[in-house]
Amino acid sequence: MMTWEELERQCLACQRCALADSRTHVVFGAGQRDAEVMFVGEGPGEHEDLQGEPFVGRGGLLLDEMLSLIGLYRQKNFYICNIVKCRPPKNRDPLNTEQDACIGYLREQIVLVRPKLIICLGRIAANRLIHDDYKITKEHGQWVERDGVFYTAIYHPAALLRDPSKKPETFVDLRSIREKIRQVCTHTY
Ligand code: URA
Repeated sequence: MMTWEELERQCLACQRCALADSRTHVVFGAGQRDAEVMFVGEGPGEHEDLQGEPFVGRGGLLLDEMLSLIGLYRQKNFYICNIVKCRPPKNRDPLNTEQDACIGYLREQIVLVRPKLIICLGRIAANRLIHDDYKITKEHGQWVERDGVFYTAIYHPAALLRDPSKKPETFVDLRSIREKIRQVCTHTY
């Protein structure tokens, strides 16, 4: 097993795909490396690329605000990262080839964190981590257990900013996450 230091060092120097050429920063991940709860988004946007931290733009602020309602804070009890660690130009969806090149870093992050819950933010992460024809509008909030880890997906915060009418469904999903934490997590929240 790789150490965090080795993994981060490799990732920050990565040249596995063309996104390396246009990035300002590799966005490796943030939060608690021993968390029981892990969030996975799609890829850095402009603010994340500039700051080197995931979910720090408008969507990230909304996400942090919503998660605080169920006792989750990146400074305290969750880890957050993305499927791809470098910003796709103009925020387009990351290509399958880019995801394939990058996914090994996420796999190692999951091994190191050993989360009990993995929450995908949006379709792209759910396609990769839950199943490959995941329909976010139909399946968000449903739980799948694999190798003792519980997976679910919620709408991406950018989707909630575009279409606030999706927020009530997300609040239902957040309550379900809070309940799953009560059932399977042991840290205090
Ligand atoms: N959107 C994502 O999917 N990830 C980020 O880090 C920021 C925006």
